[in-house]
Amino acid sequence: MADNFFEEEDFEGKFNGNIFRKIFEFALPYKGWFILFIVFTLVTSVMDSLQVYLNKLTIDNAIIPGDKDKVLYYLGFYGLTVIVQAVGVFSFVYFAGIISERIWFDLRQRMFDHLQKLSLSYFSVTPVGWIMSRVNSDSLKIADLITWGLVDSSFSVVNILISGGFMLAINWRLALIVFAIVPVLLYVAWQFRKRILKEFRIARKLNSKVTGAFNENITGVRVVKALQRENENLSEFNELSYPMFQSAYRAARLNALFLPCIQLLSSVVLSVIVWASDWQLESGWMTIGGIQAFVNYVTSMMWPVQDLARVYGEMQQSIASGERIFSLLETEPAIVDQPDAFAPETICGEIEFDHVTFYYDDGDGKPVLKDFSLHVKQGETIALVGSTGGGKSTIVNLMARFYEPKNGVIRVCGRDYREYKMESIQSRIGMVLQTPHLFSGTIRENIRYGKLDASSGAIEDAAVQAGADPFIRSLPNGYEEQVGEGGNLLSFGQKQLISLARAILADPEIFIMDEATSSVDTLTEDLIQHGMESMMKGRTSFIIAHRLSTIKRADRILVIEDGQILEEGSHQELLRKKGKYYNLYTQQFRAEKEKDLKFRSDSDIA
Ligand SMILES: Nc1ncnc2c1ncn2[C@@H]1O[C@H](COP(=O)(O)OP(=O)(O)OP(=O)(O)O)[C@@H](O)[C@H]1O
Ligand SMILES: [Mg+2]
Repeated sequence: MADNFFEEEDFEGKFNGNIFRKIFEFALPYKGWFILFIVFTLVTSVMDSLQVYLNKLTIDNAIIPGDKDKVLYYLGFYGLTVIVQAVGVFSFVYFAGIISERIWFDLRQRMFDHLQKLSLSYFSVTPVGWIMSRVNSDSLKIADLITWGLVDSSFSVVNILISGGFMLAINWRLALIVFAIVPVLLYVAWQFRKRILKEFRIARKLNSKVTGAFNENITGVRVVKALQRENENLSEFNELSYPMFQSAYRAARLNALFLPCIQLLSSVVLSVIVWASDWQLESGWMTIGGIQAFVNYVTSMMWPVQDLARVYGEMQQSIASGERIFSLLETEPAIVDQPDAFAPETICGEIEFDHVTFYYDDGDGKPVLKDFSLHVKQGETIALVGSTGGGKSTIVNLMARFYEPKNGVIRVCGRDYREYKMESIQSRIGMVLQTPHLFSGTIRENIRYGKLDASSGAIEDAAVQAGADPFIRSLPNGYEEQVGEGGNLLSFGQKQLISLARAILADPEIFIMDEATSSVDTLTEDLIQHGMESMMKGRTSFIIAHRLSTIKRADRILVIEDGQILEEGSHQELLRKKGKYYNLYTQQFRAEKEKDLKFRSDSDIA
């Protein structure tokens, strides 16, 4: 996949019937409202033209002959059209608003739902900013196209047609002159739009880069400050945003020129009409009211013509938005359940990796796991240790079926795990990740994610078992404390304790913990150890271990290097071997042990 795949693609927004059909499928559930909405739009537009015609009749048949009764008579009619028009305007704006909100809501819901089904591999190659633009701005564009775009275009077309009809009825010779001019106006308006759109398109592409730069700088604000990169980043940012400003500036200039040009053209038409009317009046082909009506029709025709050009341009953008949205909605999840997948209530904790080979699709193609075999008995605790990048997290990612083996089989209870429903495996695995993630909300809500129907008592029991209860109670709001976005208001160790409580609450058959290397204080570490131990009891556990205490408690230790098992055995066995594990132990763990001992004796003295 090319690097620039996720840049804002350049698009011509070709009128692709297929995309149109798909876009309008979102309107289908609101068919009835749509019909009403179009009807009211048409009614409003007809009233517009009718009013101009009534003016003509009033002038010619009532004001000029001085017939007051007739003036009142026409005024009554006029009043009627005003009322009908008011009802029409209210109704179509109201319906368009509702339909647009509904469609926007539906689109976002569909995308959210679909995003949840997509596999992890999608998210590792798709920037979050790209997804967010689809969810927010593109979906809004589509909703607007279906509603306001339709209002404007149907309004304009009907307005031009009906005005044209009235003009023909009043004076066909003059009408033909006007008709000759309308295509010219449309052409000029369209040329302007095209240029403006081109500048906007450039600005938009740059904008998504600018947004990306903002995003990176905000999320990485700590690093930026720590590395004192403020000035470099600012100049890089300027390089991006200056061309964007220039494009936007050119678009603004064109926009400013556009209106005077259209006005100039319409003045030409108007002067032709006035000039021609002069002798038409004399020859009796035209009345004063007729001239007035013509002038009105021509001036009020300028707006629909402009609107049509604008809507046409917007339509192109919306089609491109549609293409991007459907590219998301039509992405198939990389991992899907087989049609006849097996969905047991519980699973057993016997797991077998049978000659598993795996590589990441977005990686360099080199296998991360090579012909990896492992048999884990029910209730066994496996510690995975080894150098960074060795493949430990990959093993647990495969276990949790975030990815599937490229070759070989993973069996759960003796059965290929692809035969199970994904949900029945994933719901039976409790995971605490290397970087624990909490959702905005309270601590209680975050623990409840483990089991949605858990009672408050069960939530607190889980927290007690995890060792999280004391710190939670020491917070001002206890279990009701807000954790902030992503759990930002809590420390790393606290987040881990809450994740652990969440896993304990779920009471899964398999427990996976990717121990964090980042250090937490010794007290929290003890709590985590304690919580883990209660979790490991009776469950099959995979612990990616960095702490000696955890490793020693494991039934079996695997040293993973380069996607293979380099050494395997208990702590004592591996030490005796004097291999990689021995080296790890002597270099890393001994230091840890000494530090620990020192801390303990210090605190004993205190
Ligand atoms: N999503 C991914 N896409 C592509 N390559 C990946 C991905 N995740 C990991 N890798 C690569 O796979 C290899 C194994 O990574 P893995 O995360 O399994 O290592 P690890 O043993 O867990 O390391 P650590 O101890 O640092 O957590 C590394 O070379 C890494 O670059
Ligand atoms: Mg890892």
